[in-house]
Amino acid sequence: MSPSTHWLIFLQYSFMSLSGPVQACYKACTCLPDLKYINCSGGNISAAVSSFPSNTEHLDLSRNLLTTLPPGCFGALWGLKVLLLSTNNITSMAGGAFVNLQSLQKLDLSGNQIGALGDAFALGLGSLSHLVLARNRLTALESGSFRNLDGLARLDLSANLIGQIRAGAFGGATSLRRLHLEGNRLRALEPGFFSTLHALEVLGLRGNTIGRVEPGVLAPLPSLAFLDLSFNQLSGLHYKTLLAMRAPVTHVLLEGNPWHCDCELQRVFHKLARVRRIFLDDYRDLRCSEPAELRGRAVAEVDGELCVGETVTVLILTVTVLITVVASVIMAEKSKRSGEAKDEESGPLEAYCDH
Ligand SMILES: *[C@@H]1O[C@H](CO)[C@@H](O)[C@H](O)[C@H]1NC(C)=O
Ligand SMILES: *[C@@H]1O[C@H](CO)[C@@H](O)[C@H](O)[C@H]1NC(C)=O
Ligand SMILES: *[C@@H]1O[C@H](CO)[C@@H](O)[C@H](O)[C@H]1NC(C)=O
Repeated sequence: MSPSTHWLIFLQYSFMSLSGPVQACYKACTCLPDLKYINCSGGNISAAVSSFPSNTEHLDLSRNLLTTLPPGCFGALWGLKVLLLSTNNITSMAGGAFVNLQSLQKLDLSGNQIGALGDAFALGLGSLSHLVLARNRLTALESGSFRNLDGLARLDLSANLIGQIRAGAFGGATSLRRLHLEGNRLRALEPGFFSTLHALEVLGLRGNTIGRVEPGVLAPLPSLAFLDLSFNQLSGLHYKTLLAMRAPVTHVLLEGNPWHCDCELQRVFHKLARVRRIFLDDYRDLRCSEPAELRGRAVAEVDGELCVGETVTVLILTVTVLITVVASVIMAEKSKRSGEAKDEESGPLEAYCDH
């Protein structure tokens, strides 16, 4: 007997046995009257079933034993608004697995083993506003991964293994306001990653290995109010990279990066401090990683010293140039004087001759 037939029989059986004075529900589930709310969390369910009533609005299948989601496996739950599938053992979702769930607003797939998002996994999810894919095994976001998700406002991809984001990966999700990519394996932010996310307000990138943020990558984000780049591998930053953000106010977190404390870094932070729309909220917590003699010191504390060496060099150069200039002026003056003296000497002679 296949697991799904097994489950169907279970369902029917429990319906019969529980009908009567007790509210009818499925075995290992709890339900609210009229079955709009069904909670089957922790119910040992191993195959997705399509026999829930079509007026169900909230279906909790978390902490079960589901491994695959075949096409159309949830049947015609036209009214379903919340579907919780977290902490199962789902490895793959067929294209169209959620087709017909046209009212679905929240889909939680966190804590599974999903390694890739098929091209059409989100087919039919035009109303979805909140998608949680945290704690899976995603390694890359392909172009068009979030196609069909026109209404998506929150996307949680934290704690996966994402090292690659292809251009246009977020192409379909133009309404996105919060994007969580914390705890992944991103090494660089390349232009084009976020180019269509005009509504994005929160971008969480904490705990990746980002060492390079290309100038311009944050420029297409006119609504960005919060950018978390803490605990990455940044040793420096281009002034223009953050300046390119055009939102009225953006709060930025940069703690836990291995900052290379030199005059260049001081200049960047000094210039950013004067930009009124950008707030470096954790500036006081930034620590130097290099050079060795400054390791562990607070950036804010050594900030004033970083350009001292350069200032001295500049001073020496200036003084040298000044001395050269003064010397040449004096030399010129001297030679002019000696020329004049000769003129004086010859003067009376000429006068004499004229006479
Ligand atoms: C759903 O059922 C599980 C197991 O019975 C329970 O632990 C959980 O609290 C329930 N969820 C809600 C939201 O009531
Ligand atoms: C799930 O299966 C385990 C092991 O077979 C069993 O101990 C547990 O009682 C089952 N839980 C439910 C809700 O049926
Ligand atoms: C989940 O799947 C993996 C392999 O696919 C298996 O080793 C593991 O036992 C499964 N866990 C559960 C709770 O079924």
